[in-house]
Amino acid sequence: MQQNHRVNFGSKLGAILAAAGSAVGLGNVWRFPYEAGNHGGAAFICIYLACVFAFGLPIMISEFIIGRRSKASTGEAYNVLAPQTHWKWVGYMGVLTGFLILGYYAVVAGWTLEYILQAAIGGFSGKDAKGFIRMFTDFSQHPVRPLIWLYVFVLFTHFVIVKGVKNGIERSSKVLMPLLFILVILLAACSITLPGAERGVEFLLKPDFSKVDGDVFLGAMGQAFFSMSLGMGCLSTYASYFSRETRLGATAISVGLIDTFVAILAGLIIFPAAFAVGIQPDAGPSLIFITLPNVFQQAFSGFPVLAYVCAVAFYVLLAMAALTSTISLHEVPTAFLHEKFGFTRGKSARIVTGGILVVGTASSLALGDWSDVTLFGKNIFDALDYFTAKIMLPVGGMMAAVFVGWVLDRQVVRDEVTNGGVLKAPYYGVFLFVLRYLTPIGILAIFLNELGCF
Ligand code: PFF
Repeated sequence: MQQNHRVNFGSKLGAILAAAGSAVGLGNVWRFPYEAGNHGGAAFICIYLACVFAFGLPIMISEFIIGRRSKASTGEAYNVLAPQTHWKWVGYMGVLTGFLILGYYAVVAGWTLEYILQAAIGGFSGKDAKGFIRMFTDFSQHPVRPLIWLYVFVLFTHFVIVKGVKNGIERSSKVLMPLLFILVILLAACSITLPGAERGVEFLLKPDFSKVDGDVFLGAMGQAFFSMSLGMGCLSTYASYFSRETRLGATAISVGLIDTFVAILAGLIIFPAAFAVGIQPDAGPSLIFITLPNVFQQAFSGFPVLAYVCAVAFYVLLAMAALTSTISLHEVPTAFLHEKFGFTRGKSARIVTGGILVVGTASSLALGDWSDVTLFGKNIFDALDYFTAKIMLPVGGMMAAVFVGWVLDRQVVRDEVTNGGVLKAPYYGVFLFVLRYLTPIGILAIFLNELGCF
């Protein structure tokens, strides 16, 4: 196992942006709105925010501690910090989770490429809501087209991964994140002003707690883990590249805020637009692909050039946001194979890429020709999403909390949080309390509630 000579992110900002690049992605713009739409809107969002604070931030700091202290990728980190124990299985589960998530995430990432093309060749013009629904269905059920985009996207990811940490991940995040931010704000402003948009804003901001059930809690918790890239050691793998000066608490808060901000803004783009054109908010995974083209058409109806530029720019930035996330997902199994088995980074990446192409093909076909193939009553795509986001990530996150809260030496935890005594870290006491009690008990309670235990 190679622990020495690890490359570091070049700056503190680089560390924040790389972690935020992993967090901000399709989870915010694609998954958050459709999960919120499926689970009733505002009430879901309130529970989501509670999950971000009660579980997300403490677990993010824990993953940072595990990564920076062990200086190893997640698969090996537990082995380094607690040798000869079963904790290593938590790391291995993270590696598997990352691989499985990439198996369907890359499919959706591929869709963004098709939409860049459609936006660029004027494929949106003249269509109404029904036209966009048909366009999406025809494309996603096509036996070949989505597969081609999937392969293109996975190969892009592969290319950045083999170029290494600093050149690939850090440099791309620095440029793309701020651009995405600006465009998302602009589009939210446009969407809110569409005629009939008020009902969408209400759906997003006026909670109706009478509809809340166990599923809403499980959905919100899963979404918080997914969106913040927690529970599979992705951020702990990134933290193994952090320098001694990186402030773990401040970095976690910045990443958490950026991530939540983008998700809420994405909601502010999608729901007003969906209500304005009469698309149901519970349309599922297709939601952003049928509502957004409408926003461009309608909000800029008198300005076709602006509509064209915004549409192309949006899908390009969405693809880029997806890319910084697929890179982080790919990095986990790649770094694991490299460190555990001593393969070169290139060989490790090739093995992972090959596996992703196989799983990705199956989950893409699951939306068309293979829709009859089911696992626990769900097609392959939905099953991968359900088990990874709603079960594996929360379990992995809970384990990280228990590990740092109860197993890791207290002095080590303090040392990491305060950068060896240099920082005051006034939140330390609260952090430890939340981590030891609130986080694991809260996650367990949501699981037990879902199983019908109370
Ligand atoms: N957080 C990413 C998103 O919101 O798109 C997805 C993701 C990346 C999940 C990395 C988990 C992960 F480890």
